[in-house]
Amino acid sequence: MFSRIAPATKRSVQQAFKPTVQARFASTKPHVTEQPKQFAAVTAGIVGATGLAYMYADSELSANMADEGLHPPHHPWAHSGPLSTYDHAAIRRGYQVYREVCSACHSLDRIAWRNLIGVSHTEEEVKAMAEEVEYEDGPDENGEMFMRPGKPSDYMPRPYPNEEAARAGNAGSLPPDLSLITKARHGGEDYVFALLTGYMDPPGGVEVREGMNYNPYFPGGAIAMARVLFDEVVEYEDGTPATTSQLAKDVSTFLAWAAEPEHDERKKMGMKATIILSGLTLLSLWLKRFKWSPIKTRKIVYK
Ligand code: HEC
Repeated sequence: MFSRIAPATKRSVQQAFKPTVQARFASTKPHVTEQPKQFAAVTAGIVGATGLAYMYADSELSANMADEGLHPPHHPWAHSGPLSTYDHAAIRRGYQVYREVCSACHSLDRIAWRNLIGVSHTEEEVKAMAEEVEYEDGPDENGEMFMRPGKPSDYMPRPYPNEEAARAGNAGSLPPDLSLITKARHGGEDYVFALLTGYMDPPGGVEVREGMNYNPYFPGGAIAMARVLFDEVVEYEDGTPATTSQLAKDVSTFLAWAAEPEHDERKKMGMKATIILSGLTLLSLWLKRFKWSPIKTRKIVYK
C-alpha cells in the first residue's frame, strides 16, 4: 500500500515544489465535494420516496367508491399500538358472541378448542365446552364411524355440513368462514365493527332487493346477512352492558385474535429483538471506532 502511494506522492511533490506533502487515504474526506452527483442522488431519493408514498397511500382507494363500500372509520383498538396486546377479556366476551350469534351461520375452521386455552378460557372450561359437541370419529374395529364427545384438539364445529347446505340455508349467499376475515377485508376489525353496527334504512333512490339488507360498508351496499346484533342479545357473564356496539367491538376483537393468534407473542419477540439488536449495533459501532482509530488518526509525512 505504502509503496504504491509513495511514488505518486513523490511526483506531486516534484510538480508542486512543496517541501512536505500529506498523503491522503480513501477513508479521509475529499477536499472537493462532488456537487452534481450528490444533487442527483438526493433528487433520486426524493422522487423514489414520493413515488412509494403515493403508491401505498393510494392503495385503499377504488375507482368507484360504491364498489368499495363506505370506508370504515378507524377505532382505537386495545391492540393497535406497537407494544400493546389484545384485550383478553374482550376476546372471551367476543367468543361468547360468536358462539351464541355468529356460529349459527359462520364456521371458524382454523380455530381448535385448544387455541382458547390460556387466551380466553382455562383448560377445564375448554374441555367442558368441547365435550358438549359431538364429533364423528372412527372407524372402530368393525369399520363403523361413531360419535364421541369433543376434545380440546378438535376444531370448532361447523354450522353446515358443506357449502351447498350453507347457501341453501341463506337464500343462496354463502356466509364466509370467519377465521381469517379480519385479514381478508380492507380495514380488518374496523370493517367488521362498521359492518355489524352499520345497518340502516336505504337512502332515497336506493332500491334493495327482497331478502337483502342495506349496509353502506358492504361493497355494493346490499348484503344478504341481516342485522344480527341488538342490545342485550347476549348476556355477558362478567356483567358488561351488552350494547350493540359493545357486542360488535368484542366479536371484532375475537375475530382479530382468531386471524392472528400469534399477535401478542410476535410483539413480545419484536421488542426483545429490537433491544438485543440495538445493543449489538452500539457494540459493533464502538468496536469499529476502536479498530479503526489507529488508521483514522495516523498522519504520514514524506520528506
Ligand atoms: C343468519 C345467518 C348469519 C348470522 C347469524 C351471521 N351472519 Fe355474517 N353473513 C351471513 C351471510 C349469508 C353472509 C354473506 C353476505 C353476502 O355475501 O351478501 C355473511 C357475511 C358476513 C361477513 C362478510 C362480509 C363481507 O365483506 O363479505 C362478515 C364479516 C360477517 N358476516 C360477520 C358476522 C358476524 C361477526 C356475526 C355474528 C355477530 C355474523 N356474521 C352472524 C349470515 C349470517
